[in-house]
Amino acid sequence: MMLQCRNLSTLKLFTVSQNGYQRKSVVGSTIERKDHVKSIRNKSTLLPMKWPTGILYSGSGSRSQPLIVASTVEGDEALHRTVPRSFSGAKSSHNTSDTQTEEIEEKKMASQKIKGTVVLMKKNVLDFNDFNASVLDRVHELFGKRVSLQLVSAVNVDPGKAFFFFFFFLLIIDMSWCYVFLGIPCILFNLIVKFYWFGAEDKYAWRTDEQFAREMLAGINPVLIRRLQEFPPASKLDHKVYGDHTSKITKEHIEHNLNGLTVDEAIKSNRLFILDHHDTLMPYLRRINTTHTKTYASRTLLFLKDDGTLKPIAIELSLPNPHGDPLGCISKVYTPANHGIEGSTWLLAKGYVTVNDSGYHQLISHWLKTHAAIEPFVIATNRQLSVMHPIYKLLHPHFRDTMNVNAVGRQTLINAGGALETTVFPAKYSLEMSSKIYKNWVFPDQALPVDLIKRGVAVEDKNSPHGVRLLIEDYPYAVDGLEIWSAIKTWVKDYCSFYYKTDETVQRDSELQSWWKELREKGHGDKKDEPWWPKMQTREELIEILTIVIWISSAYHAAINFGQYPYGGYPPSRPSISHRFIPEEGSPEYEELKTNPEKAYLKTFNSQLLSVLGIALVEVLSRHSSDEIFIGQRDIPEWTADAEVLKAFENFGKKLKEIEEKIVRMNKDEKLKNRLGPAKVPYTLLYPSSEGGLTGKGIPNSVSI
Ligand SMILES: [Fe+2]
Repeated sequence: MMLQCRNLSTLKLFTVSQNGYQRKSVVGSTIERKDHVKSIRNKSTLLPMKWPTGILYSGSGSRSQPLIVASTVEGDEALHRTVPRSFSGAKSSHNTSDTQTEEIEEKKMASQKIKGTVVLMKKNVLDFNDFNASVLDRVHELFGKRVSLQLVSAVNVDPGKAFFFFFFFLLIIDMSWCYVFLGIPCILFNLIVKFYWFGAEDKYAWRTDEQFAREMLAGINPVLIRRLQEFPPASKLDHKVYGDHTSKITKEHIEHNLNGLTVDEAIKSNRLFILDHHDTLMPYLRRINTTHTKTYASRTLLFLKDDGTLKPIAIELSLPNPHGDPLGCISKVYTPANHGIEGSTWLLAKGYVTVNDSGYHQLISHWLKTHAAIEPFVIATNRQLSVMHPIYKLLHPHFRDTMNVNAVGRQTLINAGGALETTVFPAKYSLEMSSKIYKNWVFPDQALPVDLIKRGVAVEDKNSPHGVRLLIEDYPYAVDGLEIWSAIKTWVKDYCSFYYKTDETVQRDSELQSWWKELREKGHGDKKDEPWWPKMQTREELIEILTIVIWISSAYHAAINFGQYPYGGYPPSRPSISHRFIPEEGSPEYEELKTNPEKAYLKTFNSQLLSVLGIALVEVLSRHSSDEIFIGQRDIPEWTADAEVLKAFENFGKKLKEIEEKIVRMNKDEKLKNRLGPAKVPYTLLYPSSEGGLTGKGIPNSVSI
């Protein structure tokens, strides 16, 4: 929907507050010519573009409040407003006066002529593939002519975030042009590659097996590794459709690397683990490999050593059988080597595993399991719970900016042809894959202890502090995560116990029951018939549900999101796309791998342009905004008048402080080798507090970037 907007005059911005809606600020703009821009009272809140046409935001209201943008062609009196369904449909048993105020305003508005409601952006911000918008509009701007505007679906885009993304795309566009005409990114890329890796003491530590394995426990996707309980690893793919996909890894491949144990003994003593991307990717691999990607589905076996670190002992790389899916797959198994062509091939094999893992991380662990999964909770909460409802008040800070960032993400990141499809290996099949895997999403399994037990990396143990005992004791994500999980659960329990004295109070709370019903039947409607949904009949169920929601919004997202630049900002260590397969013996590429393995490695994974795009993307995604609110904090101290609740919240803050100190102590403990790894980069992604910017630590309350 592109709007050529010639005579748009005054644009008015309103914000919806808890007291109804009120006119917050007015910015006036005539879009036709830059010298017609007028009445800009919040000039500093507009994007610092050459001239501020096309993107207009209110900056004076809270950034979490929805905006109403009204426009008129003929004058100020013709207005129309758009109220998000979440507000117009919200029950308000606790705020009758708010409703009356709103009704009065509704009547006022109804008597006025409706001319239209728009949120506009310059088109080249949202669609930089559009030649007219991207190039001709810039020329037109120079001559004071009109530019292309686009209606956008979100009415509440945050100015700060918009600036991030706008800046990001400027960076990409400008770099792309430089790349084509000047080769500047080549220089930039080489500088980055040679000199940078987020504080790592050893710039080449990423090449080691230790660091490769350590990142499965203390990297940005430490949520997938599982204990191997059968050998050879099995497949759950439908045999009739895909044939036999049982792993081709044999005992002979690995037994010499098991410290004298047989495979059976290693399995019985909980020493074998697997990072398995095989079944997830195989159904898409044939199609993915028709794009610019050329890659495999991987399985990586790891052995838990006596010092608590993991050692990769075999990598299996598989392709669909060229003669048809029912014939199974073609697999090759690679084993560790340090030197010669075997060493170079092993490094490539690890690179393909990382390509699999980085795509899974971005599409499943990150987008699907945080941003997408939490969105229905935000909507149901706004639609079904009054702002005075205790559960609304508990959850509200954990939804800050989530709808904003998801709206921007849909426009510029996960859209067809957008940044994500450009920078991760599943390319145009990315979102199809992500939505397919949603079918396996199980809400109760998002609880950290449940997840750890299901992956076989922990067992139930009532004598352990968090009710589970880790089978990999030095598992930084799980160790820190369990501390945070328990702190959240204690806080939620204290809070709910104050307002819900019995199970009956849960059952009789009609707003709460409506909230849960809408969440299950509409928000996650595809899964409404799943038997695993808690029934919301007891306080215990309520506490578990809320703990999961807060865990996903805060700590889980932080662990997955804010390490993207520290761990992924150096593309050779964490490539996201592979452009060719491992060379066959006798080919020129194989000769190059023998004689110049570094060049061969760089030719195989992220191209220079993709690397620059990827670096820009993960840098934006890894930053805390300067006004971020972290776990254990609220935007206003008077958020409740209940002293007992405030006391419990204070205790929550103290507990988080203790956890911080514990994390610092553990990171200094040399016996805990996975805390630092060979690169000597301490694991801080679940360190609760942080300042703004690119810090590699800090747990914001919400999914806000
Ligand atoms: Fe995120």
